[in-house]
Amino acid sequence: MDEVWQYQFRIILLGDSTVGKSSLLKCFTGGTFSEVQDPTVGVDFYARTLEVEPGCRIKLQLWDTAGQERFRSITRSYFRNSVGGLLLFDVTNRHSFENVREWLKEVDAHVFPNKTIFVLVGHKSDLVEERQVSRGEAEALAAALGLNYLETSAKNSSNVEEAFTKLTACIYQSMKEGDIALEDGWDGVKRGFNPTAVDRAKDEKTSDCSC
Ligand code: GTP
Ligand code: MG
Repeated sequence: MDEVWQYQFRIILLGDSTVGKSSLLKCFTGGTFSEVQDPTVGVDFYARTLEVEPGCRIKLQLWDTAGQERFRSITRSYFRNSVGGLLLFDVTNRHSFENVREWLKEVDAHVFPNKTIFVLVGHKSDLVEERQVSRGEAEALAAALGLNYLETSAKNSSNVEEAFTKLTACIYQSMKEGDIALEDGWDGVKRGFNPTAVDRAKDEKTSDCSC
């Protein structure tokens, strides 16, 4: 049976090919890791529910995009209907770090005038000897871009829960503050059939005003 949820967030995973997007999602949704992983063709889909605060469950619709350039026209079409995502680079691949700004530029160009909420993720943190991007350098870039930063590993499950929890909490906070609005014809955020106490209070207020 489907779990009960109050909101659904549509989340996208972005970053160069081989940075580990599919591996991170498989770790988060199934707790598995494989050294051999086929490149994603177009887009794949995963789902999991998280509780952001007592009584408020968020269903995460997780869209895993292909990093390869030849799929870019397909992956771009998923930007607009996403409320946010994880932007990954591989800490052992400097080029993937240098492309972070380009990924954000591309997203901004497609979602304008709307905004999306991203968390920057330095992935494969288990490969300590092969590191090409220091934590300090990545934190500086994240600060310049106004993003949160986390380092993860799908191999040893380090910070995997934290990355998705952080992103979900940031989106939820923005929604509560009114920076993200639920709109018809936009799939980034959907409300479920089980309102939270806050929603019920809002609904009662709205119906009070209308009479
Ligand atoms: P595309 O689908 O082509 O965009 O690539 P991707 O970003 O989905 O990368 P994928 O998950 O396919 O992983 C690429 C390679 O990195 C695979 O060989 C994985 O086993 C490996 N990998 C992924 N995550 C980790 C990690 O945390 N640590 C280590 N050591 N290897 C990882
Ligand atoms: Mg993939």
